[in-house]
Amino acid sequence: MKSLKELIQADYLDELKKRRDLVPTSGSSSPTEIQNQCPICFDRGIIVKDDVAYPCSCMQQKKMENQFRHARMARGLLNCRFENFRQDFYHSLNSQDRTYLEYALKAYTASQEFVRQCILESHGLGLLFTGPVGSGKTFLAAAIANALMEKDKQVLFLVVPDLLDELRATYKSEANELDLLDTAREIPILILDDLGAHNYTEWTRNRLYSIINSRLNEELPTVITSNLSLEEMEEHLGARTTSRLIQACRIFRLNVDQDIRLSKYQEREKR
Ligand SMILES: Nc1ncnc2c1ncn2[C@@H]1O[C@H](COP(=O)(O)OP(=O)(O)OP(=O)(O)O)[C@@H](O)[C@H]1O
Ligand SMILES: [Mg+2]
Ligand SMILES: [Zn+2]
Repeated sequence: MKSLKELIQADYLDELKKRRDLVPTSGSSSPTEIQNQCPICFDRGIIVKDDVAYPCSCMQQKKMENQFRHARMARGLLNCRFENFRQDFYHSLNSQDRTYLEYALKAYTASQEFVRQCILESHGLGLLFTGPVGSGKTFLAAAIANALMEKDKQVLFLVVPDLLDELRATYKSEANELDLLDTAREIPILILDDLGAHNYTEWTRNRLYSIINSRLNEELPTVITSNLSLEEMEEHLGARTTSRLIQACRIFRLNVDQDIRLSKYQEREKR
C-alpha cells in the first residue's frame, strides 16, 4: 500500500476516491456538465491560433472545480469568498455599538492573514471561529479554503458530523478508516467545520483527538468552526483535545444580533 505522502504527490484524493468513493457524485459525468461544454475549445482545453496552441480560459475553471471536489467542499460554498464578505450583517440594531462588527473584522483580517501565511510557510497556527448559529463561521472557513485552492494549496474540508458518521461506519474495520484519518492528519490545511455538540462516542472522540494532536505536533494549521464555548467544548471533546486546540489556534468570536440566514431571507422576500 502506498504511503499517504506518495498519495499526496500522486493526486492524493483521486486515489482515495477510487478506493473509497469519497467524492460526491455531482462530478464530471453529470448531465449538466455535458451541457456546459466549453463553446470556445469544445472541451479540448486548448485553442490553436496561427499554428500556436494556447490553453483555453475554461481550464482554470475546470481546475478549480476539480480541486473543489477533491477538497470535499459542498457546491454552496463556492461563493464564500473574501470579496463577497458583507459587513452590514454585523451592524448592531443599536447603531452606537460597533462591537460585533469589530469582532467580525478581526476574524476577517485574521483569515486573510492566515491565507497569506499558508502561502509563504506551511507550518503555523490555525484558526478557531466560535459563535452562534448563522454568524458567518463557515463562510470564513470556506473563503479561506477557496483562496488557498486558487493558490494550488491542498485543502481538506471536513464537516465534522459527516466525518463522525464515516468514522462510525468504519468502526473496527481498520483498513478503510486509515485513509481518511491519515489524510486528515497529514493534509497541509485541514478545515473542521461544525465541531459541535454531536453524539461523540469514546471511539470518535479518540479519533478527533488523534487528528488534532498529530497536526499540532507537526505544526500543520487547522481551521475550525464551532458553536461551542471552550467550556462546552471541554465537556464534549474532553480537556486534552480542547487544550491542544487552544495551543494550535488563534480564537475569534463572531456575533450577530440576528442569524445571517434570517437576514438574507428577509432581503430575499422584500424584493
Ligand atoms: N459576512 C458575510 N457576508 C456574506 N454572506 C455571509 C456572511 N456570513 C455568512 N454569510 C452567509 O450566511 C449564511 C450563514 O452563514 P454560515 O453558514 O457561515 O453560518 P455559521 O456561523 O457557520 O452557522 P452554523 O453555526 O449554523 O453553522 C450562509 O449562506 C453564508 O454564506
Ligand atoms: Mg457553519
Ligand atoms: Zn475551453
